[in-house]
Amino acid sequence: MGNLVSVDNLSDDDLEALFRRADVFHRSGQHAPDRLSDRLLAVLFYEPSTRTRLSFESAILRLGGRVLGFADAGSSSVSKGETIADTVRMIGGYSDAIVMRHPSAGATQLAAEYTSVPLVSGGDGSHLHPTQTLTDLYYLRRVKGRIEGLTVAVAGDLHAGRTVHSLATALARLGARTVCVAPQGLRMPDYVIDEVEKRYGGRIDSVERLDDCLPEADALYMTRLQRERLPESLQHAEIPRVDGDLLRRMRRDTVVLHPLPRVDEIAPEVDEDLRAGYFEQAAGGVTVRMALLDLMLSREEFSSCARPFRPPASRDVYNRCDNTGCITHREGYVPHRPVVTDWSPEQPRCGWCELPLVQGALDLEGG
Ligand code: NCD
Repeated sequence: MGNLVSVDNLSDDDLEALFRRADVFHRSGQHAPDRLSDRLLAVLFYEPSTRTRLSFESAILRLGGRVLGFADAGSSSVSKGETIADTVRMIGGYSDAIVMRHPSAGATQLAAEYTSVPLVSGGDGSHLHPTQTLTDLYYLRRVKGRIEGLTVAVAGDLHAGRTVHSLATALARLGARTVCVAPQGLRMPDYVIDEVEKRYGGRIDSVERLDDCLPEADALYMTRLQRERLPESLQHAEIPRVDGDLLRRMRRDTVVLHPLPRVDEIAPEVDEDLRAGYFEQAAGGVTVRMALLDLMLSREEFSSCARPFRPPASRDVYNRCDNTGCITHREGYVPHRPVVTDWSPEQPRCGWCELPLVQGALDLEGG
């Protein structure tokens, strides 16, 4: 039993086992009421959610398990100043697994290090959203029959939207290509591009407009502006939109996806088109989360790999993370954690939120 704070925590065999198990639950109409009948899932949501929380709750209930937790941190002891470390240590004693969503990047990794039960991320700030990516991959695999060789255009707020960060690296890992369509200021972060290109040798391109990728795109993955995480200057940025006109220029076999909620990126008239996949994609989220919980809580061969980070080899000092969206800015006891990766050893990054760190003024040796 392991944690899932990044798709990286799953080996290739785990991914395959997960999709095969999801197929079983899909075929059974999500009917498996005896699988986890003695299990209790804690759902700790420090940030608003509809799909992720309810699909996890639906998944554990359909597996015969039970659920406890909060959907609003204001109604828990968090409002009295309790730390994540204390909350999850305690909830680990009340449940068999925890699903947690938090507005700070790195918060779910932190929680995983403090609790004794498996911890699954339901999204951490603008960093990652691994179970949304599993849902996205499962949908693509079902409707396209494969992931390898696909071209997926991701459009919208690629900077603050976490779903596209997990998705782009997972697509590269599985041999698919990503094309980014985003306005200035909302482009895909460099640490994601680095991982796609240097770790997986994948391709990630950028184009200016949706029209520029229509001939190649097997899927258009739309996202909303993440207003709650953006500065004033980007609150009204114009992002790509799919409407009836664009559908007429789009290939007959391109599917339109969205992690939802949509705001204005997909016009309502698109819903009637056969290429609109987003509601079916969301429904598959229950199937995938059933498979995940089933494997995590009842099967021994399901492994959990650590993220491939290590401390920098040199004695150089790196400044503390200056990303105000990082968990180090919210919880004072969280250690500064510079890390490097094998695929980009020249760029130390924050071990919590992955943003690049700059070298500090002081050397440990004082020299
Ligand atoms: C996404 C999220 O929370 O990151 N929603 C979801 O989980 N399906 C996307 C979003 O909020 O825009």
